[in-house]
Amino acid sequence: MSKVYISPSILSADFANLERDIKLVENAGADWLHVDVMDGHFVPNITIGVPVVASIKKVASMPLDVHLMIENPEKYIEAFAKAGADILTFHYEAVSDVKGIIELIKSFGVKAGMSIKPKTPAETVFPYLEDLDLVLVMTVEPGFGGQKFMAECAEKIPLISEKAPKNLIIQVDGGINAETARICTCYGANSLVAGNYIYKSDDIKAAVKSLL
Ligand code: DX5
Ligand code: ZN
Repeated sequence: MSKVYISPSILSADFANLERDIKLVENAGADWLHVDVMDGHFVPNITIGVPVVASIKKVASMPLDVHLMIENPEKYIEAFAKAGADILTFHYEAVSDVKGIIELIKSFGVKAGMSIKPKTPAETVFPYLEDLDLVLVMTVEPGFGGQKFMAECAEKIPLISEKAPKNLIIQVDGGINAETARICTCYGANSLVAGNYIYKSDDIKAAVKSLL
């Protein structure tokens, strides 16, 4: 089986102890750090922005997997790239020029990801699979951690996987735990984001391992 990249979401961490909580998942063997950026417009919540990403970059050794849940993401690509993002994932629903923003992200040497919300069909991503490094299938409505996994959204994974070039990362985000992770990896996902399941666990190392 191919490698599955685990990306804990720091949205569920203690923001007053971010460095400590980043080290916790780093020591637990996580691969990437998932950073949820929300603007209060694209989603009804506000989280963190460029300065926090720049500070995280100084203390994290894992690649930063930055999930932009913002309107007009093209305006902020340069700033997030310079702050140290290694992967920048924008939402299909938030842009008009998909190819343009993919090129823009790549022009900074950053990996380009595109995410789709629960109601956006799998077919939407097909024209861009050759250009993208990552496709993120949301299994909750973006905006908050701790929501319930929507199994019907995971059914998009095999449709995408069937058409995907072999290096494409297919990531899933929302309501991931040991059980839902299994569903997603069986469908062909090779990266899992998990917030509450990892950070609210008593044994973070065991929680990370249980996703594999
Ligand atoms: C939701 C965010 C997710 C969230 C996942 O809008 O994109 O990354 O933090 O949290 P859990 O794993 O708790 O559903
Ligand atoms: Zn996310």
